Amino acid sequence: MRTPSGYSRAQIALHWIVFALIVQQYLFKDSISAAWDRVTEGVETGFDPLVLLHIVGGALVLLFALWRLALRVRRGAPVPVEGSAVQKMASKLTHLGLYALMILMPVSGSLAWFGGVEAAAQSHNAMKLILLALVTLHVAATLWHQFVRRDSTLARMRRAEG
Ligand code: HEM
Ligand code: HEM
Repeated sequence: MRTPSGYSRAQIALHWIVFALIVQQYLFKDSISAAWDRVTEGVETGFDPLVLLHIVGGALVLLFALWRLALRVRRGAPVPVEGSAVQKMASKLTHLGLYALMILMPVSGSLAWFGGVEAAAQSHNAMKLILLALVTLHVAATLWHQFVRRDSTLARMRRAEG
């Protein structure tokens, strides 16, 4: 695996598309939560486009996360920008956690919705908070790179290279 000097157009596009998909998963979550409450109470649920959006949006997050991982293996990713060993490790662990949750959220949601597994719904609910915390950390780190360190971290997730 070679080490490119930057992210490719596909890697950058997928990053921002997945960001938008995850934002809408949180913004329009009330419909799926209400539908799930009705399912667990044994009440019939009619068609709701926002429930479909949650399921399709989540499935796309999973698909695109796997695609991104395949791109990372085949094409590689740029080396981290300069920083201490602790900073590099924190960044690596955050990215690993984000990838894990982009897979585990749709899997747990599907087990709940299609398999009726109550425990999966509970873990989906717990993981939504962990994902939110990791994204907050990730964005805070990006802002720190951009405005305190003034390095190229954000620029390389905007312009394709290598
Ligand atoms: C990255 C993908 C996903 C994210 C970020 C996500 C996020 C969320 C959030 C924020 C909630 C609201 C929980 C609450 O506060 O009430 C929720 C609920 C739910 N989601 Fe997802 N979701 C994803 C994928 C999926 C998929 C693919 C499915 C099903 C095929 C699904 C099924 C559900 C169900 C059944 C609930 C209701 C759980 C409950 O209220 O206990 N989710 N999801
Ligand atoms: C749902 C929200 C987000 C998720 C799940 C996410 C996930 C990720 C992941 C997994 C990577 C590592 C890419 C790789 O090497 O394969 C990454 C990189 C990056 N993300 Fe995000 N991201 C999100 C939102 C954001 C936002 C809002 C910003 C900007 C404010 C941002 C800025 C960056 C930057 C600058 C990098 C490159 C880091 C580097 O090269 O070391 N991300 N993101």
